[in-house]
Amino acid sequence: MPTRPLASTPWETDLDAHPRQRVSTLLRAAEGLLAEAGIANPAPDASSLLAHAWGIETQTLSRRRLFDEEVPAEVAGDFARLCERRRQRVPLQHLTGTAHFRHLELSVGPGVFVPRPETELLVTEVLEELKSRAEGAAPLVIDLCSGSGAISLSLASEHPGVRVIGVERERTALEWSRINLERTHLGESSVDFVEGDATTFADDTPALHGSADVVVTNPPYVPDAAVPRDAEVREHDPAAALYGGSTGLEIPAQIILQAESLLRPGGFFIMEHSEEQGAGARELIASTASLRQAATFPDYTGRDRYTVARRMTETSR
Ligand SMILES: C[S@@+](CC[C@H](N)C(=O)[O-])C[C@H]1O[C@@H](n2cnc3c(N)ncnc32)[C@H](O)[C@@H]1O
Repeated sequence: MPTRPLASTPWETDLDAHPRQRVSTLLRAAEGLLAEAGIANPAPDASSLLAHAWGIETQTLSRRRLFDEEVPAEVAGDFARLCERRRQRVPLQHLTGTAHFRHLELSVGPGVFVPRPETELLVTEVLEELKSRAEGAAPLVIDLCSGSGAISLSLASEHPGVRVIGVERERTALEWSRINLERTHLGESSVDFVEGDATTFADDTPALHGSADVVVTNPPYVPDAAVPRDAEVREHDPAAALYGGSTGLEIPAQIILQAESLLRPGGFFIMEHSEEQGAGARELIASTASLRQAATFPDYTGRDRYTVARRMTETSR
């Protein structure tokens, strides 16, 4: 879609002529431009970008909008530049440097997958599983393909006393997760982000066989030939975070086998996938020696999003 050049945005052409611009005028102009660029929900993006340019919280911006305060010229200039990049479909989270996930504000940027709201549901399921466990030794959760650390850090900060190992192959993503680890209060829990290949992790770490209470994974699962519709995903999420093989389930299939080895008998497995992959995920689970009770659940929009299973004990197989 052809885009209008920045020079025609009201705040830039008028900046010198009208140095005292108001919050509501700038936000309305930005919302219009972002909508024109095909951004589905431009109002929250415009507010986040103006708050970011101003160095304030969005709640503070809401108050300033209520009183329609003046925006300092340098803030308006920074805001115009941010809006222009957003109009070019740079992800909002890369522009503000943060992604919200459950209670966390994670640092993200180029080279790391931006965590998605639907993945929060996997965390809810794991927390339920951990709560249902009898008191005892600190439970061990292994998060295969840990990316920014969204799942690992949420679990650790929301369930006191859990031990989490996050496994990530890509160096840059691993670095982001370690930055996030430093900034997250873990209390009695612990998180270790290790560099490793999730498709061979159990083979590479025999000492962990049969030790995990939970294996959680949000692996790459987009079919190699599928082109994501949104430019933010297509052009800014790392390919390693997206593509899972020709059907999309080739990498998940290997991860399922690794999870089986890592889980203790009775342990819980949970994996995110696309809305078309529920049946495929259940078949892969059924073909393992000891993962059973596969069940698929929907996300907030009612689309199949993740599948759970349990490793059977020798006697219950
Ligand atoms: C879809 S992202 C999920 C990231 C994070 N867990 C989340 O939910 O936001 C998949 C992640 O898996 C990583 N990855 C891809 N292949 C991998 C492999 N073989 N071993 C370990 N990590 C891998 C990617 O670099 C990316 O960070």
